[in-house]
Amino acid sequence: MLAVLETTYFLSILSFLGGLKFLSSPKRAKLGNTLAAAGMVLALVASIVAFSADALPRLNLILIASMLVLGTFLGRIMSQKVEMTKMPQLVSFFNATGGACAMLIGVVEANQGTGLTWVQESVLLIGSATGAIAASGSIIALRKLSGKLKDRRSIGLQVLSKLFVLSLIALVVLIPLDVIGLSFFQGTLIVVGIALVYGVLFVLPIGGADMPVVISLLNAVTGIATALAGALYNNKVMLAGGIIVGAAGIILTIMMCRAMNRSLLKVLTGSFNVGSGTKNDSREQNIIQTNVSETALQLTHATRIAIIPGYGLAVAQAQHLCKQLEKLLHQRGTVVHYIIHPVAGRMPGHMNVLLAEANIDYELLKEMDEVNDEMSTYDMALVIGANDVVNPAAEEDDDSPIYGMPIIRAHECSSTVVFKRGMSKGYAGVPNKLFEHKGCKLLFGDAKTSLQEIINELKLV
Ligand code: TAP
Repeated sequence: MLAVLETTYFLSILSFLGGLKFLSSPKRAKLGNTLAAAGMVLALVASIVAFSADALPRLNLILIASMLVLGTFLGRIMSQKVEMTKMPQLVSFFNATGGACAMLIGVVEANQGTGLTWVQESVLLIGSATGAIAASGSIIALRKLSGKLKDRRSIGLQVLSKLFVLSLIALVVLIPLDVIGLSFFQGTLIVVGIALVYGVLFVLPIGGADMPVVISLLNAVTGIATALAGALYNNKVMLAGGIIVGAAGIILTIMMCRAMNRSLLKVLTGSFNVGSGTKNDSREQNIIQTNVSETALQLTHATRIAIIPGYGLAVAQAQHLCKQLEKLLHQRGTVVHYIIHPVAGRMPGHMNVLLAEANIDYELLKEMDEVNDEMSTYDMALVIGANDVVNPAAEEDDDSPIYGMPIIRAHECSSTVVFKRGMSKGYAGVPNKLFEHKGCKLLFGDAKTSLQEIINELKLV
């Protein structure tokens, strides 16, 4: 039986790795997802069959089966109902549940476990603590992403946060050495309690441009907690799955830090660039407004057009109209490229997923770094629902909270039209200096409506 179980786990691990490999290509990403999910189902079925043969009490089997049915049902409903713009919240929720599972596994084991070695106790404590941090931190991230919680930044919070980390490290070392007169179970409960509070303190001050990094980091933490639980149970599929999630999350975190020019240490310690004025700058901006007819006319004269999508495109669900506009322009012999910022939207790859939904050719998508030095070769840029990712304050104003974040240099195009509904600021809450640049005009209205009207006008020309 053990040999069958180990072979099945091995096949599951292979399917996770194959799934991950396929995810690197947009064309095979769906297949990759299905393959990895199939591997997970295989591992679950094998575990249940193997452990029920091990005389698992009937009540436990009934509980496991009911939770599996309930989880599958809820997961399906949530994934079907969630809007694309709410995806990061769903990811945060999943991170929280993964972390909470690892934490609870640790607590239950600590309650039952006697005769654990020093190493096993340390692994259990680290696994429970990381699980707890991922759980409470992800809930705070979820509430911040939904706009229900504001950033809380203060030196006091930073100091408290550091004290909590130090006490966690001290307890994880001292409890297994049995030098503080607590039973292992009591010690575990204290560690879990401190870790839960630390998760809150860790995420509270992080905001604006750092949010994507923290979500990815919490994802990595959930993976590490799962891997440690796998090590504790000597469960290879749990160990491998956790390592894959942990490693992928860490790589993504580092890549995002690079994309936003932030050091991971600053994100980890909740350090921030306060800036002194621009975030609350309520000064009226000098802007030039345009209209649909003028924009359509400009488009007929342009030869190279850069479409810069952002969060507002997802809100407006205007991706299909983007495709229609692109088709019309191509028919006129115009070159059209979509320029993608790594953190445009609200989740990694948000714009890629959105544009893929409208079957936009991947060849037309250009990464920010690929074309940023050539932005002046586009004679027109259409900034559709993007704001922070094109804000020149990130390059020009060292007082700005987003200073240092790489941006798409739309301001270098001779003509730029920004599609937005009003004068709201972007996610980071800072005024956009692009609007005051020469050649930049604002086209007010819902992006979907504006695009439809432009398409109608172009069809008449
Ligand atoms: P944002 O800076 O959030 O700006 C979105 C813009 O879209 C706003 O100017 C908004 O202005 C406009 N808009 C909203 N709905 C619209 C609609 N229906 N039609 C037309 N315009 C609409 O977006 P961005 O440039 O994509 O930047 C992303 C930001 O989110 C960055 O600061 C990034 O750090 C942060 N963030 C990213 C992620 C990831 S992983 N991508 C995760 C969390 C946070 P109006 O309201 O005036 O229309």
